[in-house]
Amino acid sequence: MVMARARILFVSVLVAISGTAAHAQRVAEAVGDRIVRFHKDAAAANAALPSFALVRPLAPLGPAPASAVAPDFIVEDGKHVAIVAVPDGTSLYGTGCVTGPLLRNGRTVTLWNTDAYGYADPAASLYQSHPWVLAVRPDGTAFGVLADTTWRTEIDLSSSIRFAAEGPAFPVVVIERPSALAVVHALADLTGKIEMPPKWALGYHQCRYSYYPDSKVREIAKGFRDRQIPCDVIWMDIDYMRGYRCFTFDPQHFPDPKALNADLHAQGFHTVWMIDPGIKAEPGYSIFDSGTAIDAWVKKADGTTYQGEVWPGMCVFPDYTRQDVRTWWAGLYKDFMATGIDGVWNDMNEPAVFNVKSKTMPEDNLHRADASLGGPGPHARFHNVYGMLMVKATREGVMAANPDKRPFVLSRANYLGGQRYAAMWTGDNSADWEHLEASVSMSVNMGLSAQPFAGPDIGGFAGNGPAGQEGLLFGRWMGIGAMLPFARGHTGKGNIDKEPWSFGPEVEKVCRQALDRRYQLMPYLYTLFHEAHTRGSPVVRPAFFADSRDPALRSEDDTFLLGGDVCVVPQMVPDRTRTPVRPLNWRGFKLEDVMQRELPDLLIRPGAIVPVGPVMQHVDQKPLDPLTLLVCFDADGRATGTLYEDAGDGWAFRDGDFRLARFEATLADTKATVRLASFEGKRTIPDRKVIVRFIMPGYETYAYGTESEAIETTLPVPRVRP
Ligand code: GLC
Repeated sequence: MVMARARILFVSVLVAISGTAAHAQRVAEAVGDRIVRFHKDAAAANAALPSFALVRPLAPLGPAPASAVAPDFIVEDGKHVAIVAVPDGTSLYGTGCVTGPLLRNGRTVTLWNTDAYGYADPAASLYQSHPWVLAVRPDGTAFGVLADTTWRTEIDLSSSIRFAAEGPAFPVVVIERPSALAVVHALADLTGKIEMPPKWALGYHQCRYSYYPDSKVREIAKGFRDRQIPCDVIWMDIDYMRGYRCFTFDPQHFPDPKALNADLHAQGFHTVWMIDPGIKAEPGYSIFDSGTAIDAWVKKADGTTYQGEVWPGMCVFPDYTRQDVRTWWAGLYKDFMATGIDGVWNDMNEPAVFNVKSKTMPEDNLHRADASLGGPGPHARFHNVYGMLMVKATREGVMAANPDKRPFVLSRANYLGGQRYAAMWTGDNSADWEHLEASVSMSVNMGLSAQPFAGPDIGGFAGNGPAGQEGLLFGRWMGIGAMLPFARGHTGKGNIDKEPWSFGPEVEKVCRQALDRRYQLMPYLYTLFHEAHTRGSPVVRPAFFADSRDPALRSEDDTFLLGGDVCVVPQMVPDRTRTPVRPLNWRGFKLEDVMQRELPDLLIRPGAIVPVGPVMQHVDQKPLDPLTLLVCFDADGRATGTLYEDAGDGWAFRDGDFRLARFEATLADTKATVRLASFEGKRTIPDRKVIVRFIMPGYETYAYGTESEAIETTLPVPRVRP
């Protein structure tokens, strides 16, 4: 921060061009390649608070280019406002965790992390805050606008990009790029990319509020293996605790968590257990006592300790804005993880408080934040980053407990840049068709807001589902959810059973095939997560990424892309009467043996090679053998694709223990050739069979071989219509 204060300020060169009083004082400084930061004025620049969104402070490099997209700063109703004009025909996306359509033009959202059980569209505020808008012009070029403030912020996209924030004036960062994907890459450069997750976290997760006692957990695990339905993770919701006291285990229902975790591990499962921020205010409870010993708790405005009601009754709340509190919190995970827990689920961290109108703590509560976070301040300033700071500490604790493993943390609340610490789910959605549809646009917009690891509660959390359609909705949702980055079935307390087999044999078959698909696509999915980790690419992407100049795709939000090469075309209405727009020329293909009408159609991009593998019951059940390459030639008879492999956990990949293979296919006349074009990493060519599936217009044909030599075949002469 010292550097930020000492910097040279570049007063906007645009003053001369537009000359309006509104931004006469505006400061504009280049902070990267076609990345410009604007401040309202020099005073605002000097007073700017440390950024939570940015992974590191941005040093000014020189004056901004005169052509830069630039905000006007005004003050209205006591709020600082930044307005960026958008050219006609510009499509707006992003804004994080929001209901409604993918396309955000005309929408307004208030960034204020909120517990929003059973939310509906429009919802003023949900669980996370992403002061970020991605703007795509008609020609496909794009820019992104980041309002670097943690305060309550309204984003109004009705006629421009307008951020109105409480608190002090805030900087605005504008990224200019030739494409939307390139803007998202730049956003990830600025706000951080996800760490490589453990591979098991990409499998299917089964949850409910709550599986208990432990015998029920074992029964669920057995249910998956007996029925040969793939699953990697079983989740423990709050009822495993003793009276909802975090870091405790109910001695009656979960007497031996270590044995439970060990038994599940033996069957190839991993486990994730919940931890909330609210700590029961109860002297004698060790966590309360150890936190009290360092005076860890958020204070009221009068300086006394704040208490609010959550699951265990009256609670105190760790003040994660302090390093000593984060260190204490991280340390709590040592014994917890030692029971064999693999991942942590942090919930209620908006923070949610029961029985108060605001659903959270008072805005004038006091955080004694470290100077590096801008020093002490009111909850209003830290509210939107409370969850982010919690998962930062949690991640550090999980990492310290198991330094040789990749941490997995799931969070409900978070803030722009929070992908550095945790994956997310879309909170307490409802078991209805609207939420099924929203789960895709929400996950895609999270990816466009730099969080690639997102997904909904598959099946819907609130309620059982529309009467008579419970199973239909559940199966449909499984088919779609299995194609999203984070795939977890979950449901609320008191609801009917929602395991893949709970709705009879037909729905069970749909679910099995949906998950078989996910596991067959796992080599590709893992490669996409590697791309998210290295480049910041979203795992799921909007349909318009297939052709950013096709206006028909701009508002399409049922169809979505899984990475750059696979398109998923779901049916979101019960009778499957809507025909979603699809990218032109992409070719349909199937993975499962049986044709299953309830699953989304899958398409492959001409020019792509997609690596797939055998069905597995969990990600490390068996080696990737055979490797199948789906090859779809483009009009020039070429196709390329990549496959990333490593140990699936641990950090050896950082020392070269990985293999990133690039495959290339050519079609010359009727001779099709596929070969390994190049590879990176120390791993040698695996000794395994390779099956090549050529997906041609109207037919498919196969060839077999290994990666050591080119695989060739002669395709049937394409039929020419008379
Ligand atoms: C919250 C979470 C939900 C969880 C429940 C009980 O509502 O969003 O997923 O099951 O709390 O912990």
